[in-house]
Amino acid sequence: MTESSTPASSALAPETTGAEPTGAAIRRGPFRVGERVQLTDERGRMNTITLEAGGAFHTHKGFLNHDAVIGLPDGSVVTNTAGHQYQALRPLLSDFVLSMPRGAAVVYPKDAGQIVTMADIFPGARVVEAGVGSGALSISLLRGVGDGGYLHSFERRKEFADIARGNVETIFGGPHPAWRISLGDFQEEVVKAEEPGSVDRVVLDMLAPWECLDAVATVLAPGGVWINYVATATQLSRTAEAIRADGRFTEPDAWESMVRGWHLEGLAVRPEHRMVGHTGFLLVTRRLAEGVAPLIRKKRAKTEFSEEDLNAWTPESVGERPVSDRKLRRAARDARAGRQDEA
Ligand SMILES: C[S@@+](CC[C@H](N)C(=O)[O-])C[C@H]1O[C@@H](n2cnc3c(N)ncnc32)[C@H](O)[C@@H]1O
Repeated sequence: MTESSTPASSALAPETTGAEPTGAAIRRGPFRVGERVQLTDERGRMNTITLEAGGAFHTHKGFLNHDAVIGLPDGSVVTNTAGHQYQALRPLLSDFVLSMPRGAAVVYPKDAGQIVTMADIFPGARVVEAGVGSGALSISLLRGVGDGGYLHSFERRKEFADIARGNVETIFGGPHPAWRISLGDFQEEVVKAEEPGSVDRVVLDMLAPWECLDAVATVLAPGGVWINYVATATQLSRTAEAIRADGRFTEPDAWESMVRGWHLEGLAVRPEHRMVGHTGFLLVTRRLAEGVAPLIRKKRAKTEFSEEDLNAWTPESVGERPVSDRKLRRAARDARAGRQDEA
């Protein structure tokens, strides 16, 4: 394992009081040189600029001097040389994550919110995470654990670790005291770096989380939460079956979230026509105490998955109840006779 050694890249020189949590000072107060500001015009079009002393934002309808924005309070309205107005706002974390430099797909803000809440990421928690990718999820996890917590992020590719470090340091205005990033494969490195049973939460966003099962079971404390973010149903199924077969975890729960924006204009109040239809699935489980056998949930219909089922895609293997020939013959007779069920 090697510690990634990218230099810190703080874009801002925040006026910190010393008593504030990391990153808080640069999220408050008047606009400063070096920070990004979102300008929204009268038609709702948005541009993001980085404030420079003497800089200008040019459009085909006049320009706006950066000096006219520097020193104004967040949420000001400014006017350019041609009389056009812009609303100026400091970007939020959700804006930053969707526009920051990225090498891999990022965890969207809607999923990051779910992960922080449903994995119970609390201030002071000891959390391990892989892979880091562009660092979007790391930022939310750091906000969750706070300065007094601990986040150890593992990433197998140095280029990604470098991008993530840059993004984390931009949003927090410098290095975060709770963050450690290590290069290498999570399943090999985490057991060398963390004491057995010492980690409160494990967060995985990678191709093959089932390969990490043993390592997770080793480092996670009894009752600790393991959450996985996976992009496809096949990864979801494989991870869930591996967790069940292992026996050291609770029955896993899976879900996805969809966020549909609404158009709000006078009486035209309706869902937006477009939305992000799919990002990923979440799968959560908890570490049982050492030596404890998992509670087997009683099911109404007994479904057993053999290796053959998992590879064969039979109706039973996807949880469908078998339909008897007799029932089918009766349904066919009813269909021919045009009979319908009573409402
Ligand atoms: C989709 S990206 C993670 C995105 C990240 N969560 C974010 O929000 O920006 C997946 C990352 O996992 C890394 N990865 C895959 N398997 C890994 C492993 N076993 N150990 C460490 N990193 C791994 C990949 O190199 C890639 O950067």
